[in-house]
Amino acid sequence: MAQHVCPVWVGYLLLNPLRKLLENPERLLAPFITPGMTVLEPGCGMGFFTLPMARLVGASGKVVVVDLQETMLAKLRRRARRAGVDEVIETRLAQGDSLGVSDLGGQVDFAAAIHVIHELPNQELFFAEAYQALKPGGRLLAMEPKGHVTNEDFERSLALARRAGFVPDPQAQAGGGRQAVLQKQADGRF
Ligand SMILES: C[S@@+](CC[C@H](N)C(=O)[O-])C[C@H]1O[C@@H](n2cnc3c(N)ncnc32)[C@H](O)[C@@H]1O
Repeated sequence: MAQHVCPVWVGYLLLNPLRKLLENPERLLAPFITPGMTVLEPGCGMGFFTLPMARLVGASGKVVVVDLQETMLAKLRRRARRAGVDEVIETRLAQGDSLGVSDLGGQVDFAAAIHVIHELPNQELFFAEAYQALKPGGRLLAMEPKGHVTNEDFERSLALARRAGFVPDPQAQAGGGRQAVLQKQADGRF
């Protein structure tokens, strides 16, 4: 089935600073990210969450972002340069259904998939690739928009995540709504 992909003009809307009143990147991400971490962000768009992630990992860390649309990545790079965090961010163009992150196997401390899972043509592959990229014990924040994604859709996605090997993170606060923190098991293989 053809999937809906976020158009570029919506990418610009998602940069609106007023969004911080509802989804504050620092508040959302600070509990998961510490300096020096390697972070993966599939479906980064123009980087509303990426720039704060780059600040949280600092100069010794790394943020790898993947998007299907080069226009999103180009805008993200320009914003990152202006903010002085471009050295920390690596942009990758998604390769078909795949994130193209097999080289990161077991290196990622934290991954954030924000408002993107429902756009993915192959969620099963997505969770398998994210699981493979994470370190054992690494966490994936999965967050979906309530407007587009029903509770049942989200539960179906979480079932696919469990099938890939993820378990709910027992220490993470339940975000409520369409938000979950998933963990690669400490003895998880990659
Ligand atoms: C609704 S936007 C969310 C952007 C960003 N996460 C945010 O919250 O501001 C979804 C993004 O996912 C990207 N996307 C859609 N399908 C994708 C795929 N198969 N692989 C990687 N990125 C994808 C779109 O191009 C778009 O930039």
